[in-house]
Amino acid sequence: MVQKAWGGRFAAGTDHRVEQFTESISFDRRLFKHDIQGSAAHARMLSRVGLLTPEECQQIVLGLSEIQAEIEREDFSFVLEREDVHMHIEAALIEKLGDVGRKLHTARSRNDQVATDLKLWVRDALDRIDARLIDLQRALCAAAERHRGLIIPGYTHLQRAQPVLAAHYFLAHLEKLERDRSRLADCCKRMNVLPLGVAALAGTSLPIDRDFVAHELGFETVGANSLDVSSDRDFALEAVFVLALIAEHLAGWAEEWILWSTQEFGFLALPDAICTGSSIMPQKKNPDVLELIRGRAARVIGALTTLMILVKGLPLAYNRDLQEDKEPVFDAFDTVEACLDLAAVVVAGASLRADRIAERLDEGFLDATTLMEFLIQQEVPQRTAHAVIGRLVSQCESRGLKRLADLSDADLLAAHPSLGPGTRERLGVANAVQAFQSYGSTAPEQVKTQLQRWKNKLGL
Ligand code: ARG
Repeated sequence: MVQKAWGGRFAAGTDHRVEQFTESISFDRRLFKHDIQGSAAHARMLSRVGLLTPEECQQIVLGLSEIQAEIEREDFSFVLEREDVHMHIEAALIEKLGDVGRKLHTARSRNDQVATDLKLWVRDALDRIDARLIDLQRALCAAAERHRGLIIPGYTHLQRAQPVLAAHYFLAHLEKLERDRSRLADCCKRMNVLPLGVAALAGTSLPIDRDFVAHELGFETVGANSLDVSSDRDFALEAVFVLALIAEHLAGWAEEWILWSTQEFGFLALPDAICTGSSIMPQKKNPDVLELIRGRAARVIGALTTLMILVKGLPLAYNRDLQEDKEPVFDAFDTVEACLDLAAVVVAGASLRADRIAERLDEGFLDATTLMEFLIQQEVPQRTAHAVIGRLVSQCESRGLKRLADLSDADLLAAHPSLGPGTRERLGVANAVQAFQSYGSTAPEQVKTQLQRWKNKLGL
């Protein structure tokens, strides 16, 4: 049995079953780099305020970097008895340095240590997610450019509604990701507060310099209330909420493309490289990557739910429950990172099938709203115009006509005196798209401006 760091208080060792139940090294070893980064900053601070000599500090910092190298080359033994990553690294340092190593934990507790490690980890992971979001935005922007000029049906209630430019469609998804990026940035701003130095819960009687540590670790400020800081996991919850929203955005897009790649829609060609086959049906080509992206949103929302429930009702300050925060945090980040990666691959490889889309663009009276607006421009009240065009659609349906353009000039004029000359120039999806004007609409000029703005912003 390994002697614990708190060995003085305990006469007997820990029951093995308790060790197994309470350990976190099996998952929190992922924090090792950040734990070492925090410890080195802490040691430099201790030396600055005279709690370590410069030589002791140097030995500790060197010892820590050796330990980091050992862990990186997998020449480090992890044992259950040492419970967590903090104890492992400290124990290894003590093995190397003896009494000097035993000084590192001065004015510190694992409570502020773990909060700091996790913050440092999440901060780095957020940067990785942000880079992946930009990659996906680039892929979407390139797809918008590739499909420039192509008109597709826009939907509401999954029913054909109005025609839109494909570029407008791609940029819509890109905008959602931009909001996700701004949420990430916002979350980073709020989490840029140093926990280390609050010790167990109340601070310390030792003359530490928390501002120095904050500066060393790149935090903007120092947590002002030790009870708050040692129990705070808001930053992890907020980050995972943003991840859950990213996962939702990806799941919505994946669902759309799963539908679009069916024979029923036939809008989308997915390259073989991102599809899989069936073990029994030789003809199948399945969009499994998209389905898994859609499915994995469940894991991320699950992680968020776990964290929300984990912190609910915890009294101040640190409680061991908080050890349970790490696995959902890691899993949410891993999952979203992988999904973003693959989403960019899919977007780069897929193409809309212009021929198949064009063949059926005349279905669904996509130009009806534009024709209604043509009447409104001639001072027909909107409700009246709506009823007039509604009756024309119903007339087409009862006469088996597919398009409003199949009606004769006499039919149109009979429906309303303002549907005279100029009406035909409003009919058909191409005319309908050209008629749009408003800011943010699918009007070709608007889309061109937006596409250029994104290309500039993304350096394409
Ligand atoms: N492994 C613990 C965690 O992740 C570290 C903090 C333990 N603190 C304590 N007082 N037992 O939360």
